[in-house]
Amino acid sequence: MNDTSPPPSPSSAPPTASPTPVTTPLQPGQVLDGFVLEARLHQGGMANLWQVRREQPLPGEDFPLIMKVPRIKGGEDPASIVGFEVEQMIMPALKGPHVPRFVARGDWRRQAYIVMERIEGDTLRPRLDQAPLPLVEVVELGIQIAHALTDLHRQHLVHLDIKPSNILLRPGGGVVLVDFGLSRHDFLPDLLEEEFSLPMGTGPYMSPEQVQFIRNDPRSDLFALGVMLYHLSTGERPFGQPASVRQLRRRLYVDPIPPRAIRPELPPWFQEIVLHCLEVHAERRYQSAAQLALDLQRPDAVPLTARAHKLQRSGLVRRFKRWFLAMGEEPRPPASVGAQVARSPVIMAAVDVQGATPALLEELREVVRRLMQTEPGARLACVGVMKTNRIGMDELTDAQGRSHHVQQLIALKNWAHPMTRELALEDGRLTFHVLEAPDAADALIEFAAKTGVDHVVMGARASSALRRYLGSVSAQVVTQCACTVTVVREPALPDAPGGDDALISPSASN
Ligand SMILES: Nc1ncnc2c1ncn2[C@@H]1O[C@H](COP(=O)(O)OP(=O)(O)OP(=O)(O)O)[C@@H](O)[C@H]1O
Ligand SMILES: [Mg+2]
Repeated sequence: MNDTSPPPSPSSAPPTASPTPVTTPLQPGQVLDGFVLEARLHQGGMANLWQVRREQPLPGEDFPLIMKVPRIKGGEDPASIVGFEVEQMIMPALKGPHVPRFVARGDWRRQAYIVMERIEGDTLRPRLDQAPLPLVEVVELGIQIAHALTDLHRQHLVHLDIKPSNILLRPGGGVVLVDFGLSRHDFLPDLLEEEFSLPMGTGPYMSPEQVQFIRNDPRSDLFALGVMLYHLSTGERPFGQPASVRQLRRRLYVDPIPPRAIRPELPPWFQEIVLHCLEVHAERRYQSAAQLALDLQRPDAVPLTARAHKLQRSGLVRRFKRWFLAMGEEPRPPASVGAQVARSPVIMAAVDVQGATPALLEELREVVRRLMQTEPGARLACVGVMKTNRIGMDELTDAQGRSHHVQQLIALKNWAHPMTRELALEDGRLTFHVLEAPDAADALIEFAAKTGVDHVVMGARASSALRRYLGSVSAQVVTQCACTVTVVREPALPDAPGGDDALISPSASN
């Protein structure tokens, strides 16, 4: 049947008093609220996807459209109907390159649907059948997905159904996340929590806290990403394919076979990352997607713990202990997605171990120490830049034959040492990076942008004469970094602040 009602407003169906329900099933050629249904692209368990176009194109809307229509046959799980309502509510609240652009939604009294941008490119699902994939590909996918999660978590959303079929790969690179039917947004009502008391998610990917009804922890998405990294790199699922709540609960006390026991060629740093994502307690996982992306991008800097070297799952005694503890234990969820994001920033300390005076280095450490103390979920990346005129053309060793790079790394570690123990930063919360680049400011700005740094702490050259002569790295970072930058000066200034100090007052933040 063709429906020829007038086109709706761009963002919602017409608010008529008693809309006439549309006769189903929908057919190719049918017009629904001004959208022409062209072809059915996908018939899923919960929804059908149609390729659509506007009967009267809107100026500026120059991307292909897709319509998602819930499958209502009468006998399905009511949670999937509520899930569709949730998705209709959430999609207009999201933006950016990692979600399809929202276009319109249809009234339930007539025909519920969501029209959104159609993303060209396949989902990650077919690649799963080809697992194990080459490590470089798995790592690259992990980085892209972690970036997408960082973006969504910062928009106060936890996805809660991260899995290959909900991840679209843009042909030009980058990933787009779809299917927000189980998601939770800090500022929107959580209909699923209000109406149901069953754990919601997809069995193989559900985090332990999701199994325990927690729906507002962004670290749940990192667990699901860990499951995917495990599966893509080993060809096996870490927790099988559970079919009951009892089987789902096993992940609270049975740890997965370490990936290197399945594929010994996987490097220890990769196992460290995967098992870090799969920790039962969210507190022991990466605290943010940006922190995970940082490790995937810099394997050399990943601090290896016992996780990296495990070759067997825990023994029966340990398992029993965990099982016993899991019975009485309540997970401690964050107050909200936003609260968890706010308490787990990536802090970058840019330390010029050779150029700065001891007093400045100490002051810098003090500022960083105070920051790390007030942010227990924070991750600290200590970064030094080795100036090279042309990569590969400089002397790699000093007069004693020691590698400059290693010397710099050791100097960074020595600088951080006094606070490492005091703040218990050993367990993956602290990494060291020596960048080799011709321009220090450029290298720091690029590192901060690429690794999603939230806050840069760095020193400023003590004398304004020196800054005039050598240029001010900190001023450049302050003006070009998108994140907060704190510039630390030596406690006793040898010269009074002059005109060129405008941007680099003591501990100035932007
Ligand atoms: N915006 C989009 N652009 C292109 N393809 C999409 C888009 N949204 C969804 N798809 C495709 O449709 C499939 C199903 O979409 P979605 O996951 O939102 O629905 P679902 O309710 O989970 O359906 P299913 O039960 O099949 O998983 C996706 O796996 C993807 O292949
Ligand atoms: Mg889906």
